[in-house]
Amino acid sequence: MIARRTSRLALSALFAAVVAAAPVPTADDLPVFSEGDRRVILSMGQLASLVPDSTNAVADDPRASELGQAIFFDPGFSASGAVSCSTCHDPAQGFTDGKPVAIGAGVGRRNAPTIISAAHQRWFFWDGRIDSLWAQALGPFESPLEMASNRNAVVARILDEPEYRRRFEAIFGALPEVPDAAQVDRAFARVGKCIAAYERRLVDGPAPFDEFAAAIGRGDAAAMADYPASAQRGLMRFIGPRGCWRCHPGPLMTDGDFARLGLPDPPGTPGDPGRLEGVRALKRDVFRSGGEHSDDPQGERSALAETLTEDPELFGQMRTPSLRQAARTAPYMHDGRFATLEAVIHFYSEMPGVTEEQHADPRLNPLHLKEGEIADMAAFLRTLCGPGPAPELCRAPDWAPVRETSSASK
Ligand code: HEC
Ligand code: HEC
Repeated sequence: MIARRTSRLALSALFAAVVAAAPVPTADDLPVFSEGDRRVILSMGQLASLVPDSTNAVADDPRASELGQAIFFDPGFSASGAVSCSTCHDPAQGFTDGKPVAIGAGVGRRNAPTIISAAHQRWFFWDGRIDSLWAQALGPFESPLEMASNRNAVVARILDEPEYRRRFEAIFGALPEVPDAAQVDRAFARVGKCIAAYERRLVDGPAPFDEFAAAIGRGDAAAMADYPASAQRGLMRFIGPRGCWRCHPGPLMTDGDFARLGLPDPPGTPGDPGRLEGVRALKRDVFRSGGEHSDDPQGERSALAETLTEDPELFGQMRTPSLRQAARTAPYMHDGRFATLEAVIHFYSEMPGVTEEQHADPRLNPLHLKEGEIADMAAFLRTLCGPGPAPELCRAPDWAPVRETSSASK
């Protein structure tokens, strides 16, 4: 920290001297990264490898992933026959939908996050009401606002569609012709486990920022210079004093935890309870990782959920999102209220409408950024996307019984 201050002071003194001597345009000045900065940048640039998920025995089984992929793109699992997971998590739009709040069978109240790298999360949804990727996949089938179906119909479709049934039974063994309620629940959970196996493969390749971090690691000045000056300045601000990375650290640019920004609610609305409702819902969920459908009910994930308490302080907290795909996933925030990254950064800059009553997180204080600094920060955030998941994961597999609903058909 001190080293950085000194070097920046030294740099600005140097610049003052240079500027006094000749009218050099300073807009393109490059920040000087201290040893401490370099360490932080390296910690953000290493793409984490995925940890195993012991609650899902087929998490890394390619047969499960392929079946899950077909189901993901199949609108036949919705009541109307028109909505699939890919309706709201469209590969052509960064696995989200570009809308402020999701629209399926009805209009939802929250913004659809991307699924790219979702497998790295500890808690799922904005309020963290689910604690495993496979259990997450079960909610949309039964949500009246999303696919408006139910578990009986989902399992019936697996039984009735020969290709699904054959593949499902090859993984999990024979399905009863007329399953009872407990057997339906078990098969339904397994459908979620196949979808999760697919989602675990939705990861991104190296982004321009990762190339820059690697160049810093090697001390390769030529490669470092390929990274835009404005993104470098934005990065400096991101990791600087009172910077964003306190909540958005590491390669995914999130601490995986929950925070309250104090975003003012539209007048006359009760406000989204966020994490408080999420903790309550998780404790009741039959598909939680400590429950009977988990393949490791005594494992680390369920132990984590055991520690949660329904603390009123959690009201209004949302999961700090990963910023990895931010350039692809407008609009922003849990309710999609901001159309652009600049608008998000402007919020952090001035925190308009945030009053005492909103209990904004103490780590936040208005940064009062200048227009150029807002543009720099946005430029940095735009360098966090790589080429996206492999193309063969961005559509239904060739054998799938239903193959429309890619973005091209909408
Ligand atoms: C109608 C639109 C819609 C459909 C259909 C839909 N989703 Fe979502 N999805 C959303 C919204 C909105 C959220 C965030 C909801 C929340 O946080 O309360 C979400 C959240 C998620 C998340 C959580 C990501 C994270 O980082 O926590 C995953 C994973 C996901 N959906 C997968 C799926 C799967 C799998 C399907 C199909 C079985 C599906 N979705 C169908 C809109 C949709
Ligand atoms: C106190 C923790 C905290 C700090 C500090 C913080 N954020 Fe966030 N950030 C969050 C949370 C929580 C959300 C989601 C809030 C919501 O939707 O209600 C969020 C949302 C975002 C989003 C929207 C992402 C999306 O997909 O919708 C962006 C972009 C973002 N932050 C960037 C930044 C930048 C840039 C800074 C520094 C200027 C910063 N954040 C500082 C916690 C934080």
